[in-house]
Amino acid sequence: MRIPEEVIMEIKYKNPIDDVISSYVNLKRAGRNLNGLCPFHNEKTPSFTVYTDTSSFYCFGCGAGGDVFSFIRKIENLDYIEAVKKLADRAGVTIPEGDYDDSYLKLKNKVYEINKESARFFHNHLFTPEGKWALDYLLGRGLDVKTIKHFGLGSAPNEWDALLKHLKAQGFSLSDMEQANVITKGSKGGYYDRFRNRVMFPIIEINGKVVGFSGRRHPNEDKGGKYVNTSDTPVYKKSKTLFGFNFAKNHCSKQLLVVEGNMDVVSLHKAGFENTIGTLGTAFTSEQARLIARYTNEIVLGFDSDAAGQKAVARATETLSESGLKVRVLSIPDGKDPDEFIKKNGPERFKALLEGAVNEIEYKLFMAAEGLDTSTADGKTKYLNLAAEALATISSPITVDLYAGRLSEQYGITKSTLVKEIEKMRYAKRKAQTKKEIGALIKPVYKNNEVNPLKRTNQRAVLAEEMIISVIMSHPDLLPPDDTFSADNMMSDVNKRIFKAVSNCLRGPSERFDISLFGDEFSPEEMGYMASLQNGKGPFIDPKKSLTDAIKVLEKEKEIASPSELGKLDDDDWAKQMEKIIQDKKRSN
Ligand code: UTP
Ligand code: MN
Repeated sequence: MRIPEEVIMEIKYKNPIDDVISSYVNLKRAGRNLNGLCPFHNEKTPSFTVYTDTSSFYCFGCGAGGDVFSFIRKIENLDYIEAVKKLADRAGVTIPEGDYDDSYLKLKNKVYEINKESARFFHNHLFTPEGKWALDYLLGRGLDVKTIKHFGLGSAPNEWDALLKHLKAQGFSLSDMEQANVITKGSKGGYYDRFRNRVMFPIIEINGKVVGFSGRRHPNEDKGGKYVNTSDTPVYKKSKTLFGFNFAKNHCSKQLLVVEGNMDVVSLHKAGFENTIGTLGTAFTSEQARLIARYTNEIVLGFDSDAAGQKAVARATETLSESGLKVRVLSIPDGKDPDEFIKKNGPERFKALLEGAVNEIEYKLFMAAEGLDTSTADGKTKYLNLAAEALATISSPITVDLYAGRLSEQYGITKSTLVKEIEKMRYAKRKAQTKKEIGALIKPVYKNNEVNPLKRTNQRAVLAEEMIISVIMSHPDLLPPDDTFSADNMMSDVNKRIFKAVSNCLRGPSERFDISLFGDEFSPEEMGYMASLQNGKGPFIDPKKSLTDAIKVLEKEKEIASPSELGKLDDDDWAKQMEKIIQDKKRSN
């Protein structure tokens, strides 16, 4: 069942696309359209365009596109109905009850409710005799009750089904609990609690809803992972969520501190560093980086100083810099994590550490010296090689010159020798980088074409189909009568569906096509494809000629059997087909 057409159109009308997108993207007027940096991929020059004429958007860089609903779907990670609801709320439009399939939305709401109730259950358990060990543990780690309550920390009972029973009594179904990932199905088919005998950290998303949990092992246990986290659920995506961001978002306009551990976040908040978030032990995704970039300009990375931590720093620096964020790196002495450091040295010392956070180059040079005795010739050589490698990643020649000068003075070598070494490494790096970039350039083409795989094997046919659809979208009066040209005349599946949708619309009571009427029939990728057809090909100087030419090309392409079909023909037919293909090739050259 679908939401009535009038309602969709009303919501769309009351949510002008430029207005909606402006609250996520900085748009600048460019003629009739608006331009900006695409929020769906990293770029430095704007290829993201908003077309107010057709109320749609399209990115030439990554192929994302569609209408205002597709935009909200993509950027807020919602399904179709949710996006419609969100925009309806924004504009104060009421959607008639029960007119649409909202089962997934209902499931999500159930999962949210289950999470909320579970968080309450774990938190209450902390203050019972059975949960006292966990409370003592948290207090022993330097927290106080105020912070524990602020973060809603809790404990999971040392039982197989304590939460399950509790939720059941509240009327929740096993299947919904399983969807929320608070219970797991055992090999014998029975269900049991996913979190048992653990200290519980609720993971709260930016709007304050509990989306999942991270549970720390009992200090006397050594079985199981140190932390167990919620797997992806309808409301939780590991690659999207950041621990503590619901609090930190209001304190980070100047600077955001990013650490690895859950305990680090909680301790730092308690110590007054409320601008701290945790990565939940995973690598930064560009999705997270873009989210952060909406709230802050500067990041300080406070990762562990072990080898894994250093790797994480290098990766995070790259991802974050791509999103235009300024990155500094904290080096914590003695290989401690921020939580241990604060516990031992107090917040004042940590603040000093924070103020001394260095830029990426200094951090790299600092780390390069780790474990080396630079007073020996061997240690010095090793260090300078590592330092040269670090400097080879810097693009500014002035910066490189500056550090090379410092190093040569410090270690008594000639600057030109060092610079030569840096150049050599830079050349090797650039070669590798170019290879990577070429790979990246090729990829988007394939990505876009995935909506229409036929484009790879029969580009001429697909381009002709695209032309036909594009002309008709902008010149509805040119729609050919059904008995002369219909969707069946097309070759690619997606274009058949789009053509059918467009022509049905034009022949329907409203006699006009609107991309927004198909939000639940086409995937977001297909919506992007449609938006590119709607905006990308025109304006047409002679639309009628463009249309008839395209139809001719398509007819010819259809006559030529596909290579797989050629194999099935007998010799005579095969010869005929080959002749046709050769003639056609000659004509098109
Ligand atoms: P660490 O191993 O550094 O633990 O993992 P920690 O945060 O210092 O833990 P405490 O202080 O001993 O309590 C860093 C983060 O990586 C994730 C957790 O989010 C953890 O806080 N992690 C770690 C997991 O998800 N699973 C694990 O088994 C271990
Ligand atoms: Mn720790």
